[in-house]
Amino acid sequence: MTLPPDAYPPAVERLVAGLEPPEVRDILTRCLSGSVSPAVALMQMLIETEDSPAVRKAVDEVTGRAATLSRATDSILRDRVDELTQLVVENAPGCDRIAEMLRSNMDSPDQAATVEDGIAFCERLFDWSVQQSEEASVALYSLGNPQLLDRATGEIIAQLERWGVISAEHALLDIGCGIGRLVEELAPRAREVSGIDVSTQMINTALRRCAPLANVKLLKGTGRDLREFGDAVFDAAIAVDTFPYIRQSGAALVETYFGEVTRVLKPGGHFVILNYSYGGDDEGDANEIARLARDYEFDVVVSAERPFTLWDGLAFHLTRREALPRPAQHRAEESRPS
Ligand SMILES: C[S@@+](CC[C@H](N)C(=O)[O-])C[C@H]1O[C@@H](n2cnc3c(N)ncnc32)[C@H](O)[C@@H]1O
Repeated sequence: MTLPPDAYPPAVERLVAGLEPPEVRDILTRCLSGSVSPAVALMQMLIETEDSPAVRKAVDEVTGRAATLSRATDSILRDRVDELTQLVVENAPGCDRIAEMLRSNMDSPDQAATVEDGIAFCERLFDWSVQQSEEASVALYSLGNPQLLDRATGEIIAQLERWGVISAEHALLDIGCGIGRLVEELAPRAREVSGIDVSTQMINTALRRCAPLANVKLLKGTGRDLREFGDAVFDAAIAVDTFPYIRQSGAALVETYFGEVTRVLKPGGHFVILNYSYGGDDEGDANEIARLARDYEFDVVVSAERPFTLWDGLAFHLTRREALPRPAQHRAEESRPS
């Protein structure tokens, strides 16, 4: 629950005063004010420090100070501290593992020199990370905890249902499906679900997890396109935390994927992107998506919203226009003087 504006700032300030480093203090302030969930706050602190004992120490300090808060007047804040404390206590090994993964420097925010390099980097990164922790490899904020990941996945599924993306008649595509946590939940609710991913180890994991599901197809793709699929075969395509990596591989790959999604979707089909980049510039992302939507024949239904409570994913919901313009080549031929 989000605290009413200006309701508790002095109490929050007292809980975090003097904590170091300042980045951790800021994250805790946002968490205790209700802007980010405790799980996302923990993930952010681990990314910031790469030091799980330091994160635990900061949370312990807040827990100790919170004992002075009045249950009568500061109950929401007390509950939030309790939730954070419990998460830290219950997920200590997961936090240690994530800090270790971060310290390995396998991941990097740097833009790839070429699309080929970018794709090879993603393949390497995700082949490796799924072997460290299946849950953390697709969502660090799960802290490697299957129950936390299931709850976050449940929120995504509920939102997709509200947007009309999921239906028993629909054929769905999950781009960058990872371990198949969404495919698993979509399959019982859809006619068929296809998942594609550039990482062999991710697809192997997804194949194992989805083995009992008869209406699921999982493919290791090249990372360059969706050539495995025919034209206008899907009612919806989703990409959850995949575009930041496609984008990091190069602007040309983003264009290719948008063109490919236009091709494989039926007219009127849904295209949902949850997190387009990790740049932290919501307006910039919204502008880029608006331009891509114009160029690739989508209408933007939802732009840059954060509909989840457990996860801070930035959501875009597009629909493919019903009537595609005639191919540019035909238009060029028509305009040629006879
Ligand atoms: C953070 S994980 C998210 C996985 C999944 N969407 C989820 O939310 O559980 C990002 C996934 O995108 C995949 N990926 C990265 N670049 C890709 C590309 N060019 N084509 C297809 N998949 C890609 C990675 O291998 C990885 O499995």
